[in-house]
Amino acid sequence: MDKAKRKAIIAGNWKMNKTPKEATELLNAIAPLVADADCEVIACVPYVDLAAAIEATKGTNIKIGAENCHWAASGAFTGEISTGMLTEIGVEYVVLGHSERRQYFGETDETVNKRTKAALAAGLKPIVCVGELLWERECNITEEVIARQIKLDLWDVTEEELKNVVIAYEPVWAIGTGKTATADQAEEVCAFIRAQLAKLYNQDAADAVTIQYGGSMNDGNADELVSKTNVDGGLIGGASLVAEKFAAIVKAASK
Ligand code: 13P
Repeated sequence: MDKAKRKAIIAGNWKMNKTPKEATELLNAIAPLVADADCEVIACVPYVDLAAAIEATKGTNIKIGAENCHWAASGAFTGEISTGMLTEIGVEYVVLGHSERRQYFGETDETVNKRTKAALAAGLKPIVCVGELLWERECNITEEVIARQIKLDLWDVTEEELKNVVIAYEPVWAIGTGKTATADQAEEVCAFIRAQLAKLYNQDAADAVTIQYGGSMNDGNADELVSKTNVDGGLIGGASLVAEKFAAIVKAASK
């Protein structure tokens, strides 16, 4: 399977930005700009924005995702949100294992794996984030780090379930820093991720997986990044908060 046959996905990760009212305004601004997109368009928004976001995007081609979910169906997990709470209101995607969750909130590959399994079982499509720290890249262990994350985060995920998994390669040193990985660096690691998937599953299964790049992706660099063979779109932070910039990235992925 070649790139042309894979689904390109541009997803915004709003992080801790926008109130419900602001979410509606932003989505109302984005919707007409991406209406003719030839790729999948997703906005992953804070929990309290989800209902407003789903309402605002009814009848549009924008899908809504959450920024995390818990693995248990319910219980004494103060501050957490279950998969059932998300699916009941119409959430389709969920970002898991984002480096900010790993760095600031003690998320580990084990918890990312549990969340991934639970999301898939509930019918949510996880966007599983992997990426190396700057120090790890400088120590030349990028491939070991990524291989470990892919193996552990997808532990016990079946080949059938893999069809609903999106991988986002987000080098931690490129997130919110303005330092984008070069298109060649992004391609190199995305190709490596696909090769790991081929080892863990098989080549056909690996070829069908959408692998996004994320990290200071914007309207100026998206064209070159998404032109790479193994880069099937992007997970966008800062630039997803500005309708025109996000729409320009969607346009780049629609070519
Ligand atoms: P920025 O695009 O702001 O660098 O964030 C990337 C990111 O973390 C998306 O999940």
